[in-house]
Amino acid sequence: MDLMETIRGRRSIRRYKPDPVPEEVFRTLMEAVRWAPSWANTQCWEVIAIKDPKVKSELATALPKGNPALSSMTDAPLILVLCGKKGTSGFYKGQAVTVKGDWLMFDTGIAMQTLCLAAYSLGLGTVVVGMFDHKKAEEILKVPQNVEVVAMTPLGYPATEGSAPKRRDISEFVFSDHYGEKG
Ligand SMILES: Cc1cc2nc3c(=O)[nH]c(=O)nc-3n(C[C@H](O)[C@H](O)[C@H](O)COP(=O)(O)O)c2cc1C
Repeated sequence: MDLMETIRGRRSIRRYKPDPVPEEVFRTLMEAVRWAPSWANTQCWEVIAIKDPKVKSELATALPKGNPALSSMTDAPLILVLCGKKGTSGFYKGQAVTVKGDWLMFDTGIAMQTLCLAAYSLGLGTVVVGMFDHKKAEEILKVPQNVEVVAMTPLGYPATEGSAPKRRDISEFVFSDHYGEKG
């Protein structure tokens, strides 16, 4: 699949078939994550792959009832939880080097998008899930203090095609020379 076609065609998928994700497909997706760029190549990401229906159901309780991805948390054969090790991305000798502090959100975000695009190119669906009780998820998944849960995605074969929500026009977000200036 052509890269632009993959970028444009990927949709958030919220309904999944129960068919399992083959181990070699999972490995390919982790290989894609492995090659994501990161701050000074710190690679702060960690991935928890959840197959156990009991753990999936428990984790689903961390989502608010109104989260449109709620049912996919138990329908999809696999849930991937993206975590970030704190205090590495954006740090030099233990000190944050920019006003932004920890860049773990940024690096795990790139890793997540790399994963979502690779999954789509292999015929699999994903949806980034960010709206949930992170503290509760960390407790359920026994995540240590030096690591944060950032986001998760169900992974599986789509049961429906998502439709593309409208995007802003390029002219709405590109400026010339200074903020707000149009070329
Ligand atoms: C950081 C982030 C958090 C998101 N959180 C949720 C979520 O909690 N629940 C959900 O259903 N979709 C969530 N989404 C998916 C967005 O709603 C979706 O990407 C957006 O509407 C564009 O649709 P598309 O992915 O099909 O292009 C999230 C996406 C991102 C990038």
